[in-house]
Formats: sequence, structure tokens, C-alpha cells
Amino acid sequence: MYKSLFLLLPLLYGSACTTPAVETSEIPTADPPGLADLADFPIGGAINEGRVRGDSALLAIVSEEFSSLTATNDMKMYAIARGPGALDFTLPDAFVNFAERQGKRVFGHTLLWHYGFPRHLMELDGEAAEGFINSYIDTVVTRYRGRVDGWDVVNEAMATSGGELRETPWLEKIGKAYIPMAFRAADRADPEAKLFINDFNTERDTAKLNGLLALVEEMQADGVPIDGIGFQMHIRMDTDEELIGRSLAKAAATGLLIHLSEVDIIFNRHDDTQGGGEQIVDKITPELLEQQAQKYESLARLYRENVPPAQRYGITFWSFTDRDTWINGFFDLKDWPTLYDEQLQKKPAYYGFARGLRE
Ligand code: XIL
Repeated sequence: MYKSLFLLLPLLYGSACTTPAVETSEIPTADPPGLADLADFPIGGAINEGRVRGDSALLAIVSEEFSSLTATNDMKMYAIARGPGALDFTLPDAFVNFAERQGKRVFGHTLLWHYGFPRHLMELDGEAAEGFINSYIDTVVTRYRGRVDGWDVVNEAMATSGGELRETPWLEKIGKAYIPMAFRAADRADPEAKLFINDFNTERDTAKLNGLLALVEEMQADGVPIDGIGFQMHIRMDTDEELIGRSLAKAAATGLLIHLSEVDIIFNRHDDTQGGGEQIVDKITPELLEQQAQKYESLARLYRENVPPAQRYGITFWSFTDRDTWINGFFDLKDWPTLYDEQLQKKPAYYGFARGLRE
């Protein structure tokens, strides 16, 4: 822009006017494009509003790199239905206001989840539980109608491994019907919102993916309003790439939107339970970081190769710095799973992912 203006100046003013000599180094250059500029689908980050407040380095990453934001915890039921009294919207309001001020797409995570199940809801019997789900979803989704683009309506409905449903309090109280019930309630409250079912390990546990897809197909056949499938995509360096590609293609065959909703890539292992970490890699090396960059590059490429453009809801990173990653605290590990290091500098992983978006 600036350059072309300077080139035009002599033409506009003709020879009667002498143009000032401009050193090339003085011409302002635009910032390098962020990930969201490189991609032709949304690129998201997960963050809590309180985390970014007062942290200008983190804020700069959020505003430059992402076009979509998900609250890490601010919109979960345990952040809203804190006790038996009225719902508390302090955290989700602050998050949605922040994301809107930043001009980002807002993604809602999550309406129903077994983890952190509010204790005061344990005593509800079946009928009261149905009543609660319907009124909770109606209140929350209506409050953000037209502002939240999409919701993870049910998170982790499938058992940790295999193809069965997870035994959650909702399943115990209501039975399998709680899932379509939640989608219908969300759709009534905001018919425009994109409604997702979201789960983990479905890129590598084929029995689990098949169970999830059977559930999705049953809902589609019954006319339940479901728009998308979320792959959390908390993967490991040894997660088979061909298998990831096949799983994405299989899910995309439903015709639904596909969201990689919580991406990170670890060097170590865990058994999917809190505290269940297995430390294999103690020290990060340039070679390991380069291998991770290649894995991030492959992931972006696999998404583009296996999900048709109209079904790409986007790729979202989960607490996208090694300083803030949830992996270390949750699994009691030391790992380096994200695009930014502990000093918030771009890692090779960042550049690998950027390559995968373009090449
Ligand atoms: C995690 C958060 O990152 C942690 O801060 C919190 O303590 C527990 O939840 N799958 C999900 C996310 O769907 O909501 C989880 O987020 C990570 C696993």
C-alpha cells in the first residue's frame, strides 16, 4: 500500500514536482501475516478472559493470530451454575465481550460435560434433570443468541475408549435421550448457532469414532439438529498420521462441519485420567522441536486434504503456549505441546503449522 503510493507520486505530480527521496528502510512494512491470515478457514485459540487481562504479550498473540476464540473454562457449566441459586454469567459475559471487542468469532464450550459436574445437581431425579437441562440450555444459548457462532452442545459423550456412551450423571438420570434433548434445546434457543458434538481420541480410537458416528447418524436420521463434529485432537508425537486422515475423512462423509477443537501435540504419554501422566521425554531438544513442527505441518495438511472446504469449521489451539498449557498441571507432566514456548516466542511448531496451511 505505502509502496504503491510512493511509486504513484511522481506520476501524479509530474516532472514539475520533485519527489522526496525515500529510504526503503523508512517505508513502513506490514506485520507478518498471522495464522488466521494464512488460512482460508477460521483459526482459533482457547483462552480465559482473566488470563489475557493485563498480559499484553498474550493479548498480542490472540489479536494477531486468531480469528476465533473459545473460552478454556469461562463458559462451562461449573463456571455458570456454581451453586443452587441463580446462574452466574460474570465469567462468560466477560469472555464474550472480550472476544467481540477483539472482532473474533466466538465459540461456546460447552453446554453439557461430565467433568466438573456441579455437585448440587447430583440430587436431581430424572424429571428434574430433564427440566434443568432444558432450562439451562435455553437460558445460556438465548443470552448469547447471534453472538456465539457455535456450541459444543455435548462434550465427551463417549466412554474414554471403545464405542459405548460414557456413564455420566446425565446418562444415569435421563438415559441416552439426554443427547438429542440438549441439541433440540440449543436449536430452539438459537436456530442459527452451529451445534457440535465434541470428543477426544476419536482420531486414533476407531471403535470410539465408529460409536460416535453411529450416534451422529442416528440423530441425523431422527432429524435432530446437529451441525458438526469436534475432534479435540489432543494428540501425541506417535499418533499415526494416516489414521488421523482416515478418521477425518470418515467423519466428513457425514456431510457435517468438522472442527479440530482443542489441538495440542505432546511428547509424553498419559492415560486420559487426571494426574495420569507418563514422563518419557525429560528435555526438549532442537531435533524434537523440529519433529513437532513436522507433525503440526502434517495436521494442517491432513485437515485440508480430508475435510472439504465448505465443512471446515476451523482449527482451534488449546491454551496455545507452553507456559500456559493445561497438559502439565492436569496430567502432572512436563511437556511442550503448543506453538509458543514458555517465553511466548514462536516455536518451530508455529512455522510448521503455517507451512501446512499453505503448501
Ligand atoms: C481443561 C482446561 O484446560 C483446564 O483448565 C481445566 O482444569 C479442565 O479442562 N477436554 C476439554 C476441555 O473438552 O474442556 C478440557 O479443558 C481439556 C480436555
